[in-house]
Amino acid sequence: MALPNFVKIVEVGPRDGLQNEQAAVTVADKVALIDRLSATGLQSIEAGAFVSPKWVPQMADSAEVMARIQRRDGVTYPVLAPNMKGLEAALDAGATEIAIFGAASESFSKRNINKSIAESLAVFEPVAQRALQEGLAVRGYVSCVMGCPYEGAVAPAAVAAVARALWDMGCYEISLGDTIGTGTAGQTKRLIETVAADIPIAKLALHCHDTYGQALANIWAGLEMGVAVVDSSVAGLGGCPYAKGATGNVATEDVLYMLHGSGIDTGVDFDAVLAAGRFISSIIGRPPASRASRALGAKEG
Ligand code: HMG
Ligand code: MG
Repeated sequence: MALPNFVKIVEVGPRDGLQNEQAAVTVADKVALIDRLSATGLQSIEAGAFVSPKWVPQMADSAEVMARIQRRDGVTYPVLAPNMKGLEAALDAGATEIAIFGAASESFSKRNINKSIAESLAVFEPVAQRALQEGLAVRGYVSCVMGCPYEGAVAPAAVAAVARALWDMGCYEISLGDTIGTGTAGQTKRLIETVAADIPIAKLALHCHDTYGQALANIWAGLEMGVAVVDSSVAGLGGCPYAKGATGNVATEDVLYMLHGSGIDTGVDFDAVLAAGRFISSIIGRPPASRASRALGAKEG
């Protein structure tokens, strides 16, 4: 299969990244980050999560963030909504897109959202239905697609079943989350083959955490199979609060470096993302996890 000419980047740093940073990031700084990102050409920037503040305190200010960002034409600002309460909050905040998030492993599902997989799907169904009625777009995540922090290996068929259920609820895209970054390129190919039996590959996204340094290879494997949507996090921010030891998502800068260097367009300004990554890294007080950012920083002295 030919490589795609264009890849859409879904920037998840303000949500997936900042949900797991220990440093307190103010609303003003979150807004500044999102506004910087939305000036880079990115089309989708996950801006927050309407989840329990007891579970993820870092996202408790999502309504305020949504109220203060400058919404640009052509950019969507999805938010996580695990249940009806989250959807109501997302609607109040003027969100135009939500994401519902399931898992392919029972233990992770329980620890992340306090529900079995079946219970979670029963909660998501009316949420998706109502969101669609309200004119919102709904994205679906499946976590632990290539490994679970509690159960180890996860079968592609288990992923495909949850992905299919979310697809049938009306999700326009299914993002496959390698939550703990254990997957390899070969496993990514087998996973996509299995999931694509039910869902068109063009409707799949890869969401790779880079814990084992495999993310770029896995994304490339996905591109070779026709995947053309990639989730990434500016400066490689974050991790997952319910996956101990997980690092952030693959850095947006590194994905852009790979894609642009391979002649694949994204519509995103690399230098502007680099600057946004350095901005948020200075706020949280550590250098960007992006290898490209570090290398270029060293060159610049
Ligand atoms: P629960 O305790 O079972 O929920 O949590 P509950 O319905 O029994 O409610 C308990 C309390 O939470 C109540 O408050 C509710 O009002 C409140 P209390 O009466 O005790 O004061 N509550 C809420 N508050 C705000 N917003 C809501 C909400 N719902 C209930 N939407 C629940 C279930 C799903 C709420 C909880 O487990 C939760 O919030 N989990 C969030 C976990 C999370 O955000 N994880 C990180 C995101 S997923 C991820 O990172 C993976 C991904 O990146 C892909 C990948 O990498 O694999 C997407
Ligand atoms: Mg994630």
